[in-house]
Amino acid sequence: METGEQLGGLYKKASYFDQIRKSQTPLIIVDSGDLLNEDEEIPESIQQSAKLKADVIAQIYKHIGIDAVGVGELDLVLGIDYLKELEKKYDFPFVSANLVDDKDTPIFKRYIIKKVGDKNVGIFGVIGDTSDMVSKVSEITKDAAYVLDPLEAAEAIVKELAGKVDYIIALTHQGTNRDWVIARRIKGIDLVVGGHDKQKTKEPFEAEKTLIVQAGEKGQYQGILEVAMDGTKTATNKLVPFNDDIPNDPKVKEMITAYNDKIADMYGGAGESRPAAASIELRLSTCEPCHSEQVKQWKGTDHAKAYSTLVGKTKQFDPKCLACHTTLFEQPDGFSMKQQQMELVNVQCESCHGSAREHLSDMSKKPATKPVMALCIKCHTDDRCPGFDLDAKKMELIKHWTKN
Ligand code: HEC
Ligand code: HEC
Ligand code: HEC
Ligand code: HEC
Repeated sequence: METGEQLGGLYKKASYFDQIRKSQTPLIIVDSGDLLNEDEEIPESIQQSAKLKADVIAQIYKHIGIDAVGVGELDLVLGIDYLKELEKKYDFPFVSANLVDDKDTPIFKRYIIKKVGDKNVGIFGVIGDTSDMVSKVSEITKDAAYVLDPLEAAEAIVKELAGKVDYIIALTHQGTNRDWVIARRIKGIDLVVGGHDKQKTKEPFEAEKTLIVQAGEKGQYQGILEVAMDGTKTATNKLVPFNDDIPNDPKVKEMITAYNDKIADMYGGAGESRPAAASIELRLSTCEPCHSEQVKQWKGTDHAKAYSTLVGKTKQFDPKCLACHTTLFEQPDGFSMKQQQMELVNVQCESCHGSAREHLSDMSKKPATKPVMALCIKCHTDDRCPGFDLDAKKMELIKHWTKN
């Protein structure tokens, strides 16, 4: 249902569902995929920590009581073997009806049947078969997985489930347009829970007898659909924001703390062994003799405190955060998790101007002079800084050049 969950949101998600359970309301919790990873590529040096993060997310979702999770292409980036490992370790409920191996055998369970109250609910997953998705899947999995026709896969399951269940949910990972197609073409699906294109539906779409919902991304909202199981299947939908009214779950806090500790261990041990942010000799001190004006200006910007911002929150070891709070993260000449070059923390000159290695040995080889907007929004992404605009005011804050 959402990409790139911020771990913080999970404190509240757990307590929220606990409250519902306490009210004796039968509950099904599902997700349509891309739950465990948000990046299309994971550099070698941070693969281990990406897996740790997926592990803690899986663990927390099991604690929350997740019933079924579709498989998205970004989950596959972690490797099928790893997903199978999580499946085994946590009895993690992946479902995918049309993701198969080279012998056309489904890689995950095609569907599950969950008993809620006195009703049975069938839940299956499908991933889209657009040429874009198909090629992504084969590239990501190095041809260990293939995508079959989702409509055929869905039709077969609906037939199999006929008479055995009272309600059928499809977890789709393909985008809203195709959700309409599956809802219209395959009779018997009651609800399509869509993912992949990050839409948010306040009112469910109605495709004849099938409802279609999506709940946005990054766990900002929890989509809640209430269905009357009295034969009418009338439904009401709401999107619940997680605000301070919902308490934090202590168990989830423990899990996240353990995860942060593991990340810290993995990357160079306890915080004390690191120099204090203020005493680090930065790479840009090599620029200072010749570009003192620019360095001086830079020191007054938030880019100069991007690392200290993370310190003390156990996040200064987390590649998920360092990615935008260091210089040229995992790029040539940049900060790498393996090497942990402290002189490359913060958003220094080379974050925007590119590597100055050649320039340093031969001044006539200038680094990029005109950093472009595309560069800023690599870090100033929409969700971090909604509406970030390279307007005059923003530029003024970092301006260290004379020409306009
Ligand atoms: C030994 C002196 C020296 C050092 C050290 C040095 N630069 Fe330069 N840099 C120059 C000179 C000289 C120019 C050319 C200025 C011009 O043509 O107006 C230049 C040009 C640049 C430009 C392009 C400016 C333009 O108008 O085209 C950038 C960007 C730059 N330097 C960044 C850096 C960074 C980043 C560092 C440190 C990693 C650095 N420089 C270190 C001397 C230096
Ligand atoms: C490598 C990632 C990265 C790049 C590239 C980057 N920024 Fe930033 N920027 C940050 C981070 C991280 C912060 C917040 C630092 C903190 O407070 O800890 C920030 C803060 C800022 C701020 C201060 C906050 C505000 O909104 O007032 C401005 C202005 C800003 N950046 C402008 C830019 C512009 C303009 C560009 C492109 C020319 C750019 N940044 C490129 C990561 C980046
Ligand atoms: C995609 C790039 C990106 C990633 C990843 C990222 N940040 Fe940032 N962060 C930014 C930018 C850009 C800003 C500046 C936002 C602004 O002021 O407009 C920022 C600002 C901050 C701030 C300053 C306070 C605030 O919110 O204004 C804190 C604290 C912070 N980030 C913590 C984190 C932590 C913790 C993580 C890891 C969980 C993280 N960031 C991951 C880009 C990123
Ligand atoms: C957030 C991105 C960013 C960072 C960080 C950054 N610059 Fe720049 N720099 C720019 C932009 C944008 C320009 C203006 C390019 C233009 O339009 O001419 C520029 C221009 C320059 C120029 C040309 C000066 C002039 O008078 O025209 C130099 C030299 C330079 N930067 C050096 C540095 C040095 C040294 C640092 C580190 C202390 C640094 N920059 C950090 C984005 C950045």
